[in-house]
Amino acid sequence: MSAPALPASLRRRQCLHGALACAMAASLPNRSAQAATDKAVTLRFSHVVAQETPKGLAAQRFKALVEQRSGGRIRVLVYPDGQLYGDHDEMQALQLGAVDMLAPSLSKFGRIGFPEFELFDLPFLFGNVADVRRITQGPLGQRLLQRLSRQGLTGLGYFDNGFKQMSANRPLLTPPDFVGLRMRVQASRVIAAQMRALGAQPVTLAFSETRRALESGVVDGTENPISNFWTQGMHEVQSDLSLTEHGYLGYAVVVNQRFWQSLSAADSALVGQALREALAYGNDIADAQNDKALAALRQAGTTRIHTLSEAQRARLRQTVEPVHKALASRIGLSWMDAMRDALKQG
Ligand code: LMR
Repeated sequence: MSAPALPASLRRRQCLHGALACAMAASLPNRSAQAATDKAVTLRFSHVVAQETPKGLAAQRFKALVEQRSGGRIRVLVYPDGQLYGDHDEMQALQLGAVDMLAPSLSKFGRIGFPEFELFDLPFLFGNVADVRRITQGPLGQRLLQRLSRQGLTGLGYFDNGFKQMSANRPLLTPPDFVGLRMRVQASRVIAAQMRALGAQPVTLAFSETRRALESGVVDGTENPISNFWTQGMHEVQSDLSLTEHGYLGYAVVVNQRFWQSLSAADSALVGQALREALAYGNDIADAQNDKALAALRQAGTTRIHTLSEAQRARLRQTVEPVHKALASRIGLSWMDAMRDALKQG
C-alpha cells in the first residue's frame, strides 16, 4: 500500500526543517536542464564535397564556432568528401541516427519523397541569388523545411553554392551541342528532364563517382558550380567548360529529429546560432570560392572555358523552358504557384 499523501501544512513544516532539501527539490527542473547543458555532445556532420568548397568551409566554420562557444564540450566531427556516407546512403544514415547532420543539395530531396524541393532545379528559374533568397528566406522556404519532419528530419536552413556550368569534351553553347551526350545528373527528375530537353541522355550518378565516370567515358559531361568541378579534379578529364549559369545549386542543412530533440534548450540554441552564422559565412564566400576556382582553372590551362553570347543563352533557355510545365505536376501545382508568387515579390 502506498503511503498517504502528506497534508500541505506538514509538507510546509518538513520544508522548514529541511530548507536545503526543499530548495533542491524546488530547483529540480533547472538542475536537470543544467545537467543536460553540461553533458558532452558529439555531432557528426557528413557531406560529399571537398573542404575547399563553400559547403566544406561553412562546415568548418560551424565546427569552430560550436566548439569554441561550448568550450569543447560539444564536439563537431566533420566528414567531408563522402568519407563516411555518399549520396546513396547519407539520408538513410541520418534517419537511422548513424550521422547527425547533413547538408545535401536541394536536388537530393526529391528522391526521398520531397519532389517539391526540385523546384530549385528548374532551369533558368533564378536570375540571381536575390531571387533564390525570396524563396529560401520567406514563408515558402520555411514550409519546405517543415515538410521534412514527416521523415524524422529537422530542416535548419539553406545556403548557396551558386550557379551551375556545363562541361564535356566539347563546347556546350547551343542545344545541338548536347545531342547524344551522356550527362551525369543528380537524382532529380527536373534535372534529368532538362538534359533530355537538350537532346542529351541523363545518367544519375553519385557525386563521388562522377569524376571517375567522366574519366572512363561512362558519361561524357556534367553540370556543377565551378568550385565542385575544380575541387573534384574534373578539369583533368573534361576539355571544355561552358559558362551557362543555367541553374542553381544550393543546400539544406538537416539534422536527425531525435538528435535535435535530445539537445538541451541551451545547446540547441548554441548550435542553431552557430549554424546561422556558418550559413551566412557560406553565402558570403560562395561567389568568391567559385571565382577562385575559375581563376585556378584558367591557370591550370587544362580546360577551355567558353562564355556564351546572350543569343546562345537565350536558345538554351527556350529549349529547356517546357521543363517548367512538364514537371509542374511532379513538383506540385500549389508549390509552383507559391514559388511564382514569392519570385514576384521583388
Ligand atoms: C552534386 O552531387 O553534383 C552536388 O550536389 C554535390 C554537392 O553537394 O555540392
